[in-house]
Amino acid sequence: MSLPSLMAACAIALLTAAPVLAADCTLSPVAQEGKMVSNQCKSCHVFEADKPSPNTAPNLHDVYGSMAGTRKDFAHYSAAMAAASAKGLIWTDDTLFAYLADPKIMLQTVTGDPSLKHGMFFSLRDPDQRKAVIAFLKAIKDKPACN
Ligand code: HEC
Repeated sequence: MSLPSLMAACAIALLTAAPVLAADCTLSPVAQEGKMVSNQCKSCHVFEADKPSPNTAPNLHDVYGSMAGTRKDFAHYSAAMAAASAKGLIWTDDTLFAYLADPKIMLQTVTGDPSLKHGMFFSLRDPDQRKAVIAFLKAIKDKPACN
C-alpha cells in the first residue's frame, strides 16, 4: 500500500471508529442526570474504570451487580460492610436505593448487628437523585470508556 493510501485508510478507520466509541457511552436521560448527581460522591469515590480506589472510598465503576465490600484495591471497608458482604449483600437497584438513603440503618438491617461500625457518612435523601445515580452506575458497569 502506498503511503497516501495507507494514510487515507487510517483516516477512514478513525472516522468510522469515533462514532462507535461515542455511542458506547450514550447515557439515557435518567443516567445522564445520575452522572450529575455522582459529582456529590467524588469527594470520596472515583468512577473511572482505570483509576485505583483512593484511600477515602472504593472505586464505583463496576460496583453495580457486585458483591458488597469486595473491591480488591480498597483496604478500608468497615466491619459492618464486611459483615454485610459475608451475608451475601449484592448491589442491585433495591439494595443501592436503601443504602444511599441511609447507609447505617441499611447495613444494620442486613447484618442484624447495630454494634458494627459502618464507613460511609453521606446519604442522598432525594429518591429521584438516588434512582438517577443508580441508573448511572448501571449504565457505566463493564464499559471502560464510560465514567
Ligand atoms: C464522605 C465520603 C463519601 C461520599 C461523599 C460517598 N461515599 Fe460511598 N462510600 C464511602 C465509604 C468510606 C465507603 C465504604 C463504606 C464501608 O466500608 O462501610 C463507601 C461505600 C459505597 C458503596 C459500596 C461499595 C462497595 O465496594 O461495596 C457504594 C455503592 C457507594 N459508596 C455509593 C456512593 C454514591 C453513589 C455516592 C454519591 C451519591 C457516595 N457513595 C458518596 C464514602 C463516601
